[in-house]
Amino acid sequence: MKLLVTGGAGFIGSNFIYYMQKTHPDYEIVNLDLLTYAGNPDSLKEAEQSPNYRFVHGDIADSALVTDLFEKERFDTVVNFAAESHVDRAVLNPSVFVRTNVLGTQVLLDAAKTYGVKRYHQVSTDEVYGDLPLDRPDLFFTETSPLHTSSPYSAAKAGADLLVLAYHRTFGLPVTISRCSNNYGPYQFPEKLIPLMILRALKDEPLPVYGTGENIRDWLYVEDHCIAIDMILQKGTVGEIYNIGGHNEKTNLHVVKTILETLNKPEALISFVTDRPGHDRRYAIDPAKISAELGWMPTVAFENGIRKTIRWYVEHPDWWQRILTGEYSRYIETMYGKRLS
Ligand code: NAD
Ligand code: TYD
Repeated sequence: MKLLVTGGAGFIGSNFIYYMQKTHPDYEIVNLDLLTYAGNPDSLKEAEQSPNYRFVHGDIADSALVTDLFEKERFDTVVNFAAESHVDRAVLNPSVFVRTNVLGTQVLLDAAKTYGVKRYHQVSTDEVYGDLPLDRPDLFFTETSPLHTSSPYSAAKAGADLLVLAYHRTFGLPVTISRCSNNYGPYQFPEKLIPLMILRALKDEPLPVYGTGENIRDWLYVEDHCIAIDMILQKGTVGEIYNIGGHNEKTNLHVVKTILETLNKPEALISFVTDRPGHDRRYAIDPAKISAELGWMPTVAFENGIRKTIRWYVEHPDWWQRILTGEYSRYIETMYGKRLS
């Protein structure tokens, strides 16, 4: 089995590579990644020990490079994680989101079609469904919920999903799509809520909570996401969409307070700041389909997962200290400078 993982130097992609190396050591894995600010080769140091792993530096939207790679490697399966993934950055610069998330996906689909891959899997997000009201806890996203995006990030992801489905219907490409809720765990870039708050709390810096902190996200420990994708590759039905999420809904304030309590830091570090434009209120997944059809259930409760994640960041300053300079410090200043002053 020869597997192409794109975006494997990012958060979920690197966790997926480790998961697949552990569960399918005989698979050959090629990781195609552009190493944007979010891609970190340090995350893959142990993966590189395997003779069945290879890194290729490149852009999924570069048609010549992608075609050449597919011609040489003849992949059986493609799992596309590569994306611009941060909603706040999509507010600053939407165009790169369209280029990578939409055009990049289309370039991969063309290559998958030309070289007859047996499965193309698109890693998508619950954000394509838009948001749910805070006062209707009975509502959840199902696979048939309408696409109703809010941000340039989710709009570009929805565009990519539609292209994936179009390549299935028009060309018979054997595709699957998964739409997952918010992930957390090791190797997540510290622009996203959980690692940002952990690192700021460790340094006794103010924790910028948007609005009132009442927005709700459905948190999934990253390894549970990896297990679900593997199950879809093994047992999923071609042409189908699978929602992945674990009934772990928490308000942002609850998440931030849990981090402070675990690190024994005062709640006075919380700073309520101007809200994100277009901020989605609540995401919540109904995982009935993947549970009934593939037998997937989340295995890590939020209370355990968050402790494991905090411990990982505390024990790996070498991984995150290198990130905190240069582009990252400029980003933090642009995003939070005025809001926190
Ligand atoms: P990430 O930002 O941590 O990693 C993205 C990776 O893609 C990086 O390694 C980056 O270098 C690479 N990349 C970016 N542009 C590229 C390009 N043009 N060509 C090749 N590589 C490129 O993202 P993540 O959080 O690991 O998310 C991975 C996927 O999962 C994304 O498609 C995202 O939409 C989806 N997703 C994420 C979450 C979440 O909570 N993080 C939830 C649901 C779905
Ligand atoms: P984030 O991790 O960016 O994921 P997403 O927006 O894709 O769900 O944000 C999670 C939630 O945390 C979201 O409601 C926005 C909020 N948030 C803050 O309150 N402060 C912050 O500094 C960040 C990055 C996010």
